[in-house]
Amino acid sequence: MFAGAPLSVAIATVRSSAQVVRDDRDGRLGLGLGGSLSLQPTADAWPLHASLPPLYPEWLGDRGFAETHGLRFPYVAGAMANGIATTRMVVELAKAGCLSFFGAAGLSKGRVEAAITELQDALDPSALPWGVNLIHSPAEPAHEEAIAELLIGRGVRCVEASAYMALTPAIVRYAATGLRRDSSGAVIRHHRVLAKVSREEVARRFLEPMPMSLLTGLQSRGQLSALEVELAATLPLSCDITVEADSGGHTDNRPLTALLPTVALLRDQIVAEHGYVESIRIGAAGGLGTPAAIAAAFALGAAYVQTGSVNQACIESGLGLRARQMLAQAEMADVIMAPAADMFELGVDVQVLRRGSMFAVRARKLYELYRAYPSLESIPKPERDKVERDILQAGFADAWQSTRAFWLGRDLAQVQRAEADPKHRMALVFRSYLGLSSRWAINGVDARAADFQIWCGPAMGAFNRWVRGSFLADAANRRVGQVALNLLEGAAVISRAQQLRSVGLSVPNSAFDFRPRLLA
Ligand SMILES: Cc1cc2nc3c(=O)[nH]c(=O)nc-3n(C[C@H](O)[C@H](O)[C@H](O)COP(=O)(O)O)c2cc1C
Repeated sequence: MFAGAPLSVAIATVRSSAQVVRDDRDGRLGLGLGGSLSLQPTADAWPLHASLPPLYPEWLGDRGFAETHGLRFPYVAGAMANGIATTRMVVELAKAGCLSFFGAAGLSKGRVEAAITELQDALDPSALPWGVNLIHSPAEPAHEEAIAELLIGRGVRCVEASAYMALTPAIVRYAATGLRRDSSGAVIRHHRVLAKVSREEVARRFLEPMPMSLLTGLQSRGQLSALEVELAATLPLSCDITVEADSGGHTDNRPLTALLPTVALLRDQIVAEHGYVESIRIGAAGGLGTPAAIAAAFALGAAYVQTGSVNQACIESGLGLRARQMLAQAEMADVIMAPAADMFELGVDVQVLRRGSMFAVRARKLYELYRAYPSLESIPKPERDKVERDILQAGFADAWQSTRAFWLGRDLAQVQRAEADPKHRMALVFRSYLGLSSRWAINGVDARAADFQIWCGPAMGAFNRWVRGSFLADAANRRVGQVALNLLEGAAVISRAQQLRSVGLSVPNSAFDFRPRLLA
């Protein structure tokens, strides 16, 4: 770069809109797309201040990530429980060159198996990328193991592992199964795990070599071979760690700018300690709903980006129409933490949509009553009346009968415990409201719209603000592929504007404004 010499401008091409800027220093520099370079000074030529190489969305992240997973873009759509991340969503994103995960959490083994069959039929013949969620289920370890066995047995090559505070036999078995050496001696993974973490101590578990105690336990049960154990003991469970900041659903509400660099430093330290040859990539999730946010994640060093909330509002989502329309109206502050159905007794919260739903307030009320009283029967009458009338829409006795019927079909031990322990009975009754409120949103039960539990993070409101006035404002036009392409293309434009700024040029705000458009 040099200033002052009267050369014609040469500015390398960019796929997106041209930006014209002025240079404050001499007041006459213009930058534009294309142009030609002339070594002969001419009167009407501008001095060359900068030449930017092209920048494509495909290049924003770590190329190794795209190559390993067979992707065009470094873009992942995270799993969404109860089938909200549908097979249709996974297929659409695979065709767009992105990776996504079927939302297996909360579903029966039979439903997960049916989804696998659908995805294999649709995507395996053309070798397109896809995966399934494997979620830690502390209350149902047998279910977690059954899903892991299903994934292995049905040849699912990629999973998103989530909610693991500690490693379990199920996830270690999945990761270690099929490990082998190629002819050069390099270790080849048969299964790939994207581990989602929001804490440093959990990241460490996925970064350290797989624990020998779990490996030998699996070997003694005939679930791993001696070679698989030997190789696994030298490798981290995962070479893709998705760092999840403030997100929809379960979240620690951490800012990405604090979390990602912290986990990246931990990664560097552990890689050095163990001398791994494989590179371990860090992806970014949580709060990503605009091109600027995606560009910022890549600027932080993310190998790939992952979205969630914004996909839930798309037409391929498993959420009912009414709930999707509610999401499309959300503003950034329209989210709130509310008690989680799966970890209610522990006081764990999830982030949900507040606008248009009383769920968060009602669920909080149930949690407070659970904390304050030993049984349903001991709740004072005025409180009890309100809960029966406004929340459960059933008397405590009827609510327990329907809750009991549900658990009889799922886990008899829960019923036995509840019949012996009134506090547990109260927990199950209150948890049934929390569980049903998600189903009402998915199934579009309009009569219970005021109770819809819709997991959602601030990314949703940011996205809605960005797409206002564009074709993506209407929930009916939101397709996961278009959302992904627009976020990525916009991130490339913004990254490029920032590059111009970083060569010392004065860049107008409009250069950072990418409006949604139909992209192919
Ligand atoms: C409706 C919904 C359901 C989710 N369910 C799961 C899940 O079952 N398993 C999981 O690993 N992550 C789940 N997530 C998290 C997403 O996969 C993703 O990591 C997260 O939404 C990204 O943050 P964002 O919501 O700010 O985009 C869910 C998120 C949402 C919004």
